Amino acid sequence: MQTQQASDAHASSCLTTVAVIPGDGIGPEITRAVVRVLEAAGAPLAWEWHEAGLGSIERAANGLPAETLAAIQRHRVALKGPTATPSGAGHKSVNVTIRKALDLYANVRPVRSLPGLKTRFDDVDLVIVRENIEDTYGGIEHRQSPEVVQCLKVITRPGSLAVARYAFELARTWGRRRVTCVHKANIHKLSDGLFLSCFQEVAAEYPDIKADDILVDNACMQLVTQPERFDVLVTPNLYGDIISDLAAGLVGGLGVAPAGNIGREVAVFEAVHGTAPDIAGLGLANPTALLLSAVQMLRYLGHHACAARVEEGLRRVLADGVRTRDLGGTCGTEAFADAIVAALPVESQLAVPQQASRVVAQAPATPDAASSSVWEVRGVDVFVEHRGIPQLPARIGPFALAMISNRGTKVYPGPAPDIMLVDWHRCRYVADSAVSEDDVVMLLKQIGQHVSWMHVEKLRHADGVACYSKAQGE
Ligand code: NAI
Repeated sequence: MQTQQASDAHASSCLTTVAVIPGDGIGPEITRAVVRVLEAAGAPLAWEWHEAGLGSIERAANGLPAETLAAIQRHRVALKGPTATPSGAGHKSVNVTIRKALDLYANVRPVRSLPGLKTRFDDVDLVIVRENIEDTYGGIEHRQSPEVVQCLKVITRPGSLAVARYAFELARTWGRRRVTCVHKANIHKLSDGLFLSCFQEVAAEYPDIKADDILVDNACMQLVTQPERFDVLVTPNLYGDIISDLAAGLVGGLGVAPAGNIGREVAVFEAVHGTAPDIAGLGLANPTALLLSAVQMLRYLGHHACAARVEEGLRRVLADGVRTRDLGGTCGTEAFADAIVAALPVESQLAVPQQASRVVAQAPATPDAASSSVWEVRGVDVFVEHRGIPQLPARIGPFALAMISNRGTKVYPGPAPDIMLVDWHRCRYVADSAVSEDDVVMLLKQIGQHVSWMHVEKLRHADGVACYSKAQGE
């Protein structure tokens, strides 16, 4: 404790400037409340306020003014309120833009039971580490035909290794014992399969941490029946997005769920929840999630005593039954913040957990095995727009038509199954040996004389192993 306070005193000797982004909806009210609590707790921070979200859309079409992004880069740490993202059309998510622009590759969401809250479980204490850049969040979507839209799910080896390594380093640094990989590799054999194999590769370097894996559907069931069996979970982006809201529900809901977006140099702390338009401006919002995100930020910056003080103030207030409306209470945002300020413990009376501050995840120690493979193109999947099963040549140059599928189910050769067909088919042409770029161009020209093709995927083999999935029934 002595050492911890000395280190806090050192950290306090100069103020760390934090970029604060209040955001939209309830963002400004909860951000004001959180900054007030941190100032009352003596956090050695200076605040620099910046805009993002709907309020800045006239200055920046994507909702993220260049000076806001520059400020986050300059100060390397930001506290951010929620920002609105229109569904269906309009600008991309400001959060996703920040995460990608600054390569904030790990989203860390601690989920811990709070005192005094009526929930199904009172002993939840887990951490979700969500890959934060890849998966379907590349937002790579195309309308392929009048009836079909596709979205690319992109999982990479470097991205998967990086987040797995972060999860294991976090487990070590935070004194956790087990890391569980959450995936769907039984269906997404190549993409989630890669995520899982990278996890297993990294796990081998951490013999002191138990490693296991679970399918995401089973993980959801287990989370709502026995959440105490989980410690640290690491998961691709989309599953992480969903299970972290589910896990938030275990400990009191979105109003109490914090998060940190962590990169190699920069970190942005924000609540899991959104702008809550239904209660925006009414002074009813719960600032707890953003406050716990700020506590996470204080620990990231090494201000452990201050973090413990704020957290303890919050826990005392909740234990006393003071609650905002989402938690069944009557307290408004400002009054809730006032209660926390009044409940802040005297620093010297507080036991500060000896937790190392920043999780440092090194670059992979092992050479990238993927780069040493021998790659060959052995065929092509050509996606064509066509109503009914297209009639295509059985042979084109070195290629033979091996299969046509519709929505992933084989419809040629053999009897077409009795399924609903859409106007979009995958036509698989394969060759007996490696083909050239010219062969592929020639194939597309020929197919184009029969049907309109939308996109093309080369069928590659690495060291003789096929790098593509089969159709249902193929
Ligand atoms: P939401 O999280 O804003 O609201 C869902 C429900 O939870 C609402 O009933 C709301 O009143 C309640 N709620 C959320 N936070 C609360 C708090 N602190 N205190 C009390 N009640 C709270 O989710 P929704 O409605 O799906 O999204 C609204 C907007 O927020 C959308 O534009 C969405 O894109 C954006 N959003 C932004 C995020 C971010 O900036 N980190 C994250 C999630 C959504």
